[in-house]
Amino acid sequence: MSVLNVYNPIDLEIDHGDGVYVYSEDGTRYLDFTSGIGVLSLGYSHPALVAALKDQAEKIWHCSNLFKINKQKIVAEKIAKHSFADSIFFCNSGAEATETSIKVARKFHHDLGFKNKNKIITFQGAFHGRTLASLYAANNESHIKGFGPKVDGFINVPFADHEALHNAIDDSVAAIMVETILGEGGIKVIPKECLLGLRKICDERNILLILDEVQCGIGRTGKFFAFEWSKIEPDIVPIAKGIGGGFPLGACLLNKKVSKCMTVGTHGSTFGGNPLAMSVANVVLDHILKKDFLEHVQKVGDYLKKKLEEEILKSFPSLIEEVRGKGLMLGIKSKISNEIIIEQMRNEKILTVKASDNIIRLLPPLILQNSHVDEAIEKIKKALSRI
Ligand SMILES: Cc1ncc(COP(=O)(O)O)c(C=O)c1O
Repeated sequence: MSVLNVYNPIDLEIDHGDGVYVYSEDGTRYLDFTSGIGVLSLGYSHPALVAALKDQAEKIWHCSNLFKINKQKIVAEKIAKHSFADSIFFCNSGAEATETSIKVARKFHHDLGFKNKNKIITFQGAFHGRTLASLYAANNESHIKGFGPKVDGFINVPFADHEALHNAIDDSVAAIMVETILGEGGIKVIPKECLLGLRKICDERNILLILDEVQCGIGRTGKFFAFEWSKIEPDIVPIAKGIGGGFPLGACLLNKKVSKCMTVGTHGSTFGGNPLAMSVANVVLDHILKKDFLEHVQKVGDYLKKKLEEEILKSFPSLIEEVRGKGLMLGIKSKISNEIIIEQMRNEKILTVKASDNIIRLLPPLILQNSHVDEAIEKIKKALSRI
């Protein structure tokens, strides 16, 4: 086989998609609760996204950052207008966005003369991507094995261990980096009071707060950013996935204080913010930032969670332990292997994603309607009844 064997795809080839459904080559229709791992925010083949991409494809695909790309400014201004961000760096993936965050945090303190203030506190169970630095940031044994030498500069503390966090803080700490909701780690929502606590420690100790919203940002929880639920403002936020609606795009959002340290030549990307990506992101943002859109995500997310609790958790106590998450980023904690349940769900033509902690992750497109929720619940019931 010529494709490097780093994935283990299921034996299902998706031929095309439409709204919240995908179709295999033989025409079988699946209700998609994966969104390509939280990416297809507006669903499949959204006419406005297809039109934007086609239109741009006929003008220019790529020119690099040697030249001005007007749509970068438009997209950056839209994000900034609705967030804490002062400046935005565009890249192509989540890992590049978290890598940028790490670089910025170090450079910020370096430029202030604190050359040894360069460590980043991270949490066990986190996922920040597959570049060397983001791998060692998360410190997941199975991901880093064989890839040494270790990338230095991270202090990985147990998740939710307040004492360990406090003990790890000294004058060498540049930033604390955490996902506002752990995705791969098993849909773990950081409570509002903990986010407030993190912000407070960071302010007191001159530490930057990096909230990784690659998976939970861009409307997924029913707010533009998941941290908005706690009303705090981070300093640096890497995003990706949903912002491109399926087109590869990442970005790193910086507040005014930190953005100043990133001057000409300090960072860059050949493809970052290319005209195709910007055209699509521009339309994604127009939809997500429409007055009613985020309210819709909250409502349909609440409806899905309630149905899961009332009709799945209660009816299958020997199989299901818990339903958790926010908006349309939900997790079902399974009492048996999550893979068995995911396979049975697939047999019922509903697609879901696994996550750590025996979680079945539900990440449907944000355009999901209540009728799709009802359809999903029936499929999940049938799948669980067969186990
Ligand atoms: C929270 C988080 N950060 C970073 C990444 C890495 O993103 P990418 O796979 O686009 O590099 C992911 C991917 O799942 C993620 O969930």
